[in-house]
Amino acid sequence: MSTVQVPEIKKGLEGVYFTVSNVSAINGQEGRLVYRGIPIEALAEHSSFEETSFLLIEGRLPRRDELETFVQTLRRNMDVPGQVIDALKKLPRSTHPMDALRFGVSALVGFDAEVMDPREGLALMGKDEEARRAYWEKGKRMGIRLIAKFPTLVAAWHRIRQGLPVVDPLPDLSHAGNFLYMMFGEKPTPTAERVMDVALILHAAHGMNASTFTAIVIASTAVDMYSAIAGAIGALKGPLHGGANQLVLAQLREIQARGGVSRVEEWLEELLSRKGRVMGFGHRVYKAYDPRARILKKWAGELAKEKERELYEIAVKLEEINIQKLGEKGIFPNVDFYSGLVYGALGIPTEFFTPIFAVARVSGWVADVLEYWKENRLIRPRAWYSDQVWDRPYVPIDER
Ligand SMILES: CC(C)(COP(=O)(O)OP(=O)(O)OC[C@H]1O[C@@H](n2cnc3c(N)ncnc32)[C@H](O)[C@@H]1OP(=O)(O)O)[C@@H](O)C(=O)NCCC(=O)NCCS
Repeated sequence: MSTVQVPEIKKGLEGVYFTVSNVSAINGQEGRLVYRGIPIEALAEHSSFEETSFLLIEGRLPRRDELETFVQTLRRNMDVPGQVIDALKKLPRSTHPMDALRFGVSALVGFDAEVMDPREGLALMGKDEEARRAYWEKGKRMGIRLIAKFPTLVAAWHRIRQGLPVVDPLPDLSHAGNFLYMMFGEKPTPTAERVMDVALILHAAHGMNASTFTAIVIASTAVDMYSAIAGAIGALKGPLHGGANQLVLAQLREIQARGGVSRVEEWLEELLSRKGRVMGFGHRVYKAYDPRARILKKWAGELAKEKERELYEIAVKLEEINIQKLGEKGIFPNVDFYSGLVYGALGIPTEFFTPIFAVARVSGWVADVLEYWKENRLIRPRAWYSDQVWDRPYVPIDER
């Protein structure tokens, strides 16, 4: 009998490099994040979501005229066809906003004037440089249209769910401002608009995370941008990825119901004793404090008022004790730990926290798909067949 060499298996693809990307990068040991080499702190302080999206997609900061054109392109493309809104209205109201968003993105494809013949994608693999470029440019235009429509879709579902009329975007508001305006039907305060802008910047890209990888896996089959983005939304929904932010607030509220700050330690010990997880803590790559959490913590502290103040104080205490207990293992707050408090203070319902992540991350998905398409190769790994049985008999149904 021949002996079979078992390959090394990298569960969760941990530490595996499968491509080159300069879109964004994390230094997990030092807790650093850059977009196209620019530190996240500088972008959060000086940039806007629109400028950051241009940076991610084009690989450099825009000149003033380029930014103006990009902003106008986004604003022109924010509207969602009435038929898609009508289709959303037919969904059960219990549909999670991430599912409604994925549905909306899938519904949009047929309304895109540049809708692709599936054969077009083969241009990515051919020698015709012009055809390849044309496909890439088309994908970029589709991606930018999707970035523009995400806030509209998310806000529309919020309004529909509440039985309220859908609000159209305003041409003079920023991307972040329009999102809040379409959610609530009134112009946001300058502070609310700025906080939302910062949150979108912070969530726009993050190395080879699960949803970006999903988008790339799908895009590597040379399919259209809509399919890649719809798949990425599914990956982002999971509680180990973007879905964590809505669960953080639930944990903080649980502690609040148990008596507040004085009960944090007891609650944590009980959770850890049954191997439970503190949501918004820990990260596959960061083994230090997530720089995005530091920025959001500051905003959460500034915005927290009255009842929410207690939730913020619980969060700060939980962070302190959890770092004492788990910091040695490299487990620190991640971006989700304080984002929920910030969104809560802006009046956003909990189920819409993960969709905000999507409104931001779609820029990173588009940028990384475009980067991958420059040298596309079908992603097709293998799973080890540990049984190594190649001639198991087929037993007829009556003999089993
Ligand atoms: C994000 C996450 C999945 C990454 O983890 P990972 O690299 O797969 O790490 P593992 O799940 O292998 O965990 C390693 C150890 O740390 C512990 N750990 C990791 N995250 C933890 C958390 N949030 N709370 C408590 N313990 C945690 C695990 O229990 C495990 O302990 P053990 O070695 O004693 O078994 C994980 O930290 C997690 O579940 N976090 C909570 C969800 C979350 O906030 N997700 C958003 C990420 S941006």
